[in-house]
Amino acid sequence: MVKKIEFYQELSSQVSSLIHDETDLIANMANISALLYSRLDDVNWVGFYRVIDEELVLGPFQGQMACIRIPFGKGVCGTAAKEGQTQRIANVHEFDGHIACDAASNAEIVIPVKLNGITVAVLDIDSTRFDRFDSEDQAAIEQIVELLSQSLT
Ligand code: SME
Repeated sequence: MVKKIEFYQELSSQVSSLIHDETDLIANMANISALLYSRLDDVNWVGFYRVIDEELVLGPFQGQMACIRIPFGKGVCGTAAKEGQTQRIANVHEFDGHIACDAASNAEIVIPVKLNGITVAVLDIDSTRFDRFDSEDQAAIEQIVELLSQSLT
């Protein structure tokens, strides 16, 4: 079995190759969603919400249809955007205000995408497995999000 660290090293280099030389945010979000959805185990939704006029608007994603607009501060995504901090939730049913787009979701991680320190989007990953994401997953996925941020500059 491939060690998690090796898995994420390979995934990161795939992300780098995918978004290499491309500065279009939507195109890069679309390809990152597709890659993460196909490579990560037990995930049922991977996608982005963009910050537009103080709310989150659905962007490129893989998975079931999802809510289109999320106010800042609402749900896991809105909390990550408002606080500018990753939200790693072991059990979404215990998160006050969680927005259930897909009833199959049990765990979730949401990472802000920042440009010059300002949150311009969030990456949201849902899992059917409780406690799916540990600190190692978080660090590795944050690094992938950092690659996306760097592609914009
Ligand atoms: N669960 C999220 C909403 C987005 S969906 O999971 C795709 C939230 O609570 O913000």
